[in-house]
Amino acid sequence: MTTIAIVGAGRGLGAAVARKFGSEGFDVALISRSQERVDQLAADLHAEGLTTRGYAANVRDPKSLIAALDAAAQELGPIEVLTYSPLPQKEFLRPVLETTADDLVGAVEFSIYGPVTAVHQVLQGQRFLGRESILFVNGGSGARPNPNVAGTSIAFAGESAYAKLLHDTLKDEHIQVGQLIIPGAITPGHPTHDPTVLADHLWHLHTHPDAFRVYADELPGAWGPTDA
Ligand SMILES: NC(=O)c1ccc[n+]([C@@H]2O[C@H](COP(=O)([O-])OP(=O)(O)OC[C@H]3O[C@@H](n4cnc5c(N)ncnc54)[C@H](OP(=O)(O)O)[C@@H]3O)[C@@H](O)[C@H]2O)c1
Repeated sequence: MTTIAIVGAGRGLGAAVARKFGSEGFDVALISRSQERVDQLAADLHAEGLTTRGYAANVRDPKSLIAALDAAAQELGPIEVLTYSPLPQKEFLRPVLETTADDLVGAVEFSIYGPVTAVHQVLQGQRFLGRESILFVNGGSGARPNPNVAGTSIAFAGESAYAKLLHDTLKDEHIQVGQLIIPGAITPGHPTHDPTVLADHLWHLHTHPDAFRVYADELPGAWGPTDA
């Protein structure tokens, strides 16, 4: 049995991705900062028939992220799919002229060091399996910078570049690297922004290795004040 590790797994997109990949036969490792929250989510998904466990890690703390991914692989099985989708902190969502170098430290740890740490941890096992996916999820500022949210715009640019470099470098090894861009808010019941619709995009990326980036919707003509 192979495993999907969802880095940044809450009751929105994270739970929908767990249900989608779980229904396709994956065991599911749920990773977020709160052991209590991922344990409760794992229990709820288990009651729906999924094999799932929760692991606590802060993506800004590389040791905790490595330990969580290692434990997930040991307990559930080799990680075939990695999704990186923690919800960015509000501090990253400041206008550009109010954003200092210090303000960017957290955003860069979150969106660049975190992904690089997670990818290095799972890649060796993925190369052994030879059929894998690494899937990144970002808001609209991951595709076009938004002056209202400088932290995510700057750090997501690095994450997007890293994702594209991985896609181009790993495609010959049959390791798929893709990115889902979600302009606007995730909204239950919405035709394009419901978590289950977004989870289907990630399944599409997993099963279509030629694709790199998919958009949940068109980028807006003008940014809203908090569009990340
Ligand atoms: N929500 C939106 O409206 C929206 C819009 C556009 C794009 N997105 C993208 O969608 C993804 C999130 O989806 P969602 O909002 O539905 O979230 P979700 O899956 O409901 O939850 C994401 C989880 O990330 C965890 N998290 C936050 N900071 C973390 C950290 N430092 N280390 C580890 N885990 C952390 C939080 O749990 P803990 O507090 O327990 O750590 C949270 O429950 C992200 O990639 C985001 O960029 C979201």
